[in-house]
Amino acid sequence: MIISKFMNSKLFILPTILIIFITSIQTCHGQFEEQYYNCTSNYLYTCGQVAQNLTYPFWGGSRPQYCGHPAFELKCQDHDYPTFNIGNHEFRVLGINLSSYRISIARLDLWENYCTPDLSNITLSPSDLFRYNDMVRGLFIFYNCTPEMTRAFPNFTCNVDGRESDGFYTDLLLLGQEVEGLDWPANAMSCSQMIAVPVMRVALNELLNKTLALQDALKWGFEVQYDAKTADCLRCEGSGGICGSDSTGIEFICHCRDGTRRGTCQNSGHG
Ligand SMILES: *[C@@H]1O[C@H](CO)[C@@H](O)[C@H](O)[C@H]1NC(C)=O
Ligand SMILES: *[C@@H]1O[C@H](CO)[C@@H](O)[C@H](O)[C@H]1NC(C)=O
Ligand SMILES: *[C@@H]1O[C@H](CO)[C@@H](O)[C@H](O)[C@H]1NC(C)=O
Ligand SMILES: *[C@@H]1O[C@H](CO)[C@@H](O)[C@H](O)[C@H]1NC(C)=O
Ligand SMILES: *[C@@H]1O[C@H](CO)[C@@H](O)[C@H](O)[C@H]1NC(C)=O
Ligand SMILES: *[C@@H]1O[C@H](CO)[C@@H](O)[C@H](O)[C@H]1NC(C)=O
Repeated sequence: MIISKFMNSKLFILPTILIIFITSIQTCHGQFEEQYYNCTSNYLYTCGQVAQNLTYPFWGGSRPQYCGHPAFELKCQDHDYPTFNIGNHEFRVLGINLSSYRISIARLDLWENYCTPDLSNITLSPSDLFRYNDMVRGLFIFYNCTPEMTRAFPNFTCNVDGRESDGFYTDLLLLGQEVEGLDWPANAMSCSQMIAVPVMRVALNELLNKTLALQDALKWGFEVQYDAKTADCLRCEGSGGICGSDSTGIEFICHCRDGTRRGTCQNSGHG
């Protein structure tokens, strides 16, 4: 009696443990498989004409963060165009080239009107993630200036909150100095405010010879090169994987058919 009771309970417990064990393995396995498939065709990022079927490092909307790099979240505005945040500045995305790792963006705060009460400098300091494309130049816009300054340069009049003021814009060449990236002009101006805005060299040329309006030069945007673990991603893709990040959003992750890896999908050969 005692022995048979013992046998019974043992027989009952063992399969139960096994079932729990197998179920938990399957859930875990299934979740990683799901991440792989959710990052493929299911959830490519699309927003308007500008962003269609985007893959890593971009994510946002219904495309989960684990399919991208944490710094590359896109937000779709009015189902029309994506916006993008770098260093707490909001940019409108004008174009993305996944094969040349290039993104074309424009400042959202100056998009409608460069005469705005809240002027700020752009602080896109070159980092591991982003750097200006070498076709980018600095455009300097001066606001609320004395007439001696505006007369000598391409000028404009702003009407902000019913107050009129004159300003002008220039690149460093016009001020008789070398163009060196987006460095600030050394000499102080008789203007109360000034900002530096990155623009494309071709737009700047047209702007300075007056074949392009200031607002249109700003809407032209500027190009930024990005590097979201490009080398890791190429190795991952070479092994049949899909690039992404882990749930903490910090580590690079290679999503494979049978799970996620830090490096590559070893089964498929390549390292
Ligand atoms: C994958 O997508 C499906 C369908 O939207 C969703 O239910 C599931 O939670 C996703 N899986 C993961 C691991 O995010
Ligand atoms: C994006 O993917 C959809 C669905 O696969 C396809 O119909 C469409 O042509 C793709 N668009 C581009 C620009 O590749
Ligand atoms: C993306 O960049 C590559 C390499 O520079 C270029 O060949 C291709 O034409 C570009 N694609 C688009 C849509 O501009
Ligand atoms: C932009 O930066 C320049 C140089 O640092 C500074 O003189 C100017 O006041 C700044 N403009 C604004 C609006 O903060
Ligand atoms: C703007 O520039 C023109 C020359 O391009 C000059 O004649 C005009 O006086 C300037 N306007 C102001 C307000 O300085
Ligand atoms: C203005 O600059 C653009 C771009 O460099 C050039 O194509 C155009 O011929 C220039 N126009 C004039 C009037 O100089």
